[in-house]
Amino acid sequence: SRVAVLISGRGSNMAALIYAARADDCPYEVAVVASDKPDAPGLVLAEAEGVPIARLPSAKDKTQFFAGLQSALEAAGVDLVALAGFMRIIPDDFLARWEGRIVNIHPSLLPRHKGLKPHQACLDAGERITGATVHLVTAELDSGETLGQVQVAVLPGDTPDTLAERVLVAEHQLYPRILGQYLGRTRDFDWISNKVGELAL
Ligand code: GRF
Repeated sequence: SRVAVLISGRGSNMAALIYAARADDCPYEVAVVASDKPDAPGLVLAEAEGVPIARLPSAKDKTQFFAGLQSALEAAGVDLVALAGFMRIIPDDFLARWEGRIVNIHPSLLPRHKGLKPHQACLDAGERITGATVHLVTAELDSGETLGQVQVAVLPGDTPDTLAERVLVAEHQLYPRILGQYLGRTRDFDWISNKVGELAL
């Protein structure tokens, strides 16, 4: 399968997806990396790793940006879109086109602590365990079907930054693994729907 990774910043989850894809038994390759921020550090990293990057029109014009993104994904023959620290609300028409084929990673055990500052929220709630979630992206923020989670212990004295740093280590292992699993699942769906199509004929 050909995966596009969308980033806005550092791109450490993007890097984890790229490195995992180098294993012989990895079921996907990172076909393209795109960002809404032309100066995202992750783009430099992707380029250095030999992964094609899409230079898109300014994200200030939302319609133009997502139209450009759609063309770039089509040109790269992408099957699935993986958001990795992509800090933009995605318009409904784009989501509709990629329904069931767009995933995200969020650094909390969803449905707990959706949105921004999940680590702060976790600490404020006095929780002992947090983690990360890979989920399908739907119109409602951080609310699509959960595909996989990993738990991470909260330590006494943790700050949002120390917690984020530890959760990130777990994210890097979770994301490629769950993406691979999900691609296996969707391949089965494709096979079944193709068979159903053949039978219907
Ligand atoms: C990660 O914690 C991810 O879960 C969240 O944003 C952060 C992105 O970090 N959505 P990076 O750009 O992948 O390093």
